[in-house]
Amino acid sequence: MKIDLKQVKIEAEKDISGASDQQKLRQIEKKYLGKKGMLAEVFVGLKHFPAPKRKEQAQAANQVKKTIASLIENKAKQFGKKPKSDLQKVDLTRPGQKIETGHLHLITQTQKEVTDIFKSMGFGVVEGPQVESDWYNFDALNFPKNHPARDMQDTFWLKRSSVAKQKLLLRTHTSPMQVRYMEKHKPPFKIVVPGRVFRNEATDASHEAQFYQLEGLMVDKNISAANFKAVIEEFLTRYFQTDVEIRLRPGFFPFVEPGFEIDAKRKGGDWLELMGAGMVHPNVFKAAGIATQSVAGGRSDAGWTGFAFGVGIERLAMVKHKIPDLRSFYQSDLRFLKQF
Ligand code: FA5
Repeated sequence: MKIDLKQVKIEAEKDISGASDQQKLRQIEKKYLGKKGMLAEVFVGLKHFPAPKRKEQAQAANQVKKTIASLIENKAKQFGKKPKSDLQKVDLTRPGQKIETGHLHLITQTQKEVTDIFKSMGFGVVEGPQVESDWYNFDALNFPKNHPARDMQDTFWLKRSSVAKQKLLLRTHTSPMQVRYMEKHKPPFKIVVPGRVFRNEATDASHEAQFYQLEGLMVDKNISAANFKAVIEEFLTRYFQTDVEIRLRPGFFPFVEPGFEIDAKRKGGDWLELMGAGMVHPNVFKAAGIATQSVAGGRSDAGWTGFAFGVGIERLAMVKHKIPDLRSFYQSDLRFLKQF
């Protein structure tokens, strides 16, 4: 039987637009697109066409089939449901699509990793405020009044407000927590203080205007530079777990005496400064109200000594993962972040 495609299309359009519910629509779909539907008949009939005409007729039939299917789909939307046959097209045997899960940013991972190492060495973990006072950030840490670090060019100062009695700033390091902690806790103790710090400085491959530090502070009787060296060597060996060269050189910070700086280097790479450190300056103990002079006869609340250090979290991750530019951490480029 020869079927007139044009006629089929016109009839189908009429049927579909007149369908009053989902069930009727399904019947119409069966009538035209079903296994024994009109279009199926057209395809079976193709064999009666002479070869040159067959392809043309097949294309026309496919076109009509597509048009009817899309009209049905649109109509089905009116009834709020897809026709059942559409649902049947879902292939339940196909492998599922993997849902991408996020993960912690490398800086957060590094901060956690470093903190965990110190925790396992008996250090407590505390945090301090990012908005700090002039006193804790500078004065209590023995910075002279005219020290260049206090300049507007180096420090983000907050506008003076009637609420705050003191000059406020975004802390430039985690060291203010040394004094804050010592004011409230009697030695002996050992703590680390992870946190974000801010500096009003130009960025380059190893400097950002905001970055992360981890402060360390250990105070006890007879703590010496040898204790610092032992603790920091243990930490660096455990953190890097690979061949990283370390060097210790003298460094100056007003809140330690003597002071050191520690650099690290991968084979073939350049030295990168990792941290500042030193023995806690007597003036810092004084500002926190902790006695440093041993009294003859051995008063138990005197004679404390300690070491402190402040390590750059980004710098640690850069050396460990061979990241040449610190700014990569903060460019939100997933191609970079997904590697870790
Ligand atoms: C300090 O901030 C001292 N508070 C460290 C300290 C603590 C010394 C306790 C003594 C006792 P410094 O400015 O060098 O020091 O910074 C410490 C570390 O932070 C550097 O070694 C480096 O790893 C990192 N760092 C410093 N400036 C930047 C910056 N702009 N961007 C990224 N990391 C930085």
